[in-house]
Amino acid sequence: MDAIAQPKVPSAPESVERWYTTATVRNSPRIVVPSSAQGEYVFPRSRQPLSDHPLVVSMGDAVVSFVLTQSAYKYMYEIGLLETRYVIDCALHIINNQIKGASDSEKREALTVVIDEGYHAYVALDFIIQLKALNGVEPIEVPETNGNLDAVRRAFAALPQHMHYDFQLISVCLAEHTLTKDLLSIGREKDATRTFTQVMTDHVSDEGRHANYFARMTRAHWQRLPEATKTAIASLLPGYLDDYLAGDTERAFDRKILGACGFSESQVDRVLEETNARYQEDMNAYITKTKANLVKLLQRTGILEFPAAMAAFAAYDASTGAAATSVLPAA
Ligand SMILES: [Fe+2]
Ligand SMILES: [Fe+2]
Repeated sequence: MDAIAQPKVPSAPESVERWYTTATVRNSPRIVVPSSAQGEYVFPRSRQPLSDHPLVVSMGDAVVSFVLTQSAYKYMYEIGLLETRYVIDCALHIINNQIKGASDSEKREALTVVIDEGYHAYVALDFIIQLKALNGVEPIEVPETNGNLDAVRRAFAALPQHMHYDFQLISVCLAEHTLTKDLLSIGREKDATRTFTQVMTDHVSDEGRHANYFARMTRAHWQRLPEATKTAIASLLPGYLDDYLAGDTERAFDRKILGACGFSESQVDRVLEETNARYQEDMNAYITKTKANLVKLLQRTGILEFPAAMAAFAAYDASTGAAATSVLPAA
């Protein structure tokens, strides 16, 4: 008797295989902040110029540690915000067709983003909770928005409502690309507590996959968009990049930290003034490098091939003298 033919089990596509084998939510144990981390500098000092100022250092280890702990809280809270208010939201819009045109397998991959990002927000909050329990330091503030979310809100206000979802996909693509590079970079800093670095390196191992996914989705989606939507979004993009990347020149958060350390108003002003050159230099170097990367990403996704986009960047460069598109090879 002939053997009954067994139905063929199709092999899993690479994206499925990769998620099951590499996603941190499926493969990583909980990151536990050990009691030995008490008193350690949690956040890289190289990323917080206040921590090196002689007046802050003269107050002793506990004050330096307080400054760095507050910086770590802010960083972690902002990761949670980005994930839960922005990236997950966009992935759900792909799944539920508000961002139109995704295939079932692309929606399945969007679900991995929802799961991964939910887990990243979980890890960040778990880290904050453990750190608070360990050192008894409460955050001076819990951010409810950040520069990225504010810039998206302003872009939405400038676009007709029916283009918001399309713009959201592009802005998340830009943000995921930036986040991947930021996490790689901060994870390489040697002077943070080991657990902080571990949260960063675990997280980035998922973000490369997300950045590729959103770049693919953006490239495909851009080709589907009507000319009028492309034109409206293209004309807004150069200004959006600057708005989204703009740093906090007022240093409101640093001012609050110093106030919470117990410095007088004149001491706060002095520390801010004497650390300002380095702060601005770091910020401007970051903005220049990130913007150049994002312009290349816009080229890779096909957006800059659209004549109105190239024209918008050329006009914007001419008006600001910023020359963002100078990173591109000559046509
Ligand atoms: Fe993430
Ligand atoms: Fe992500």
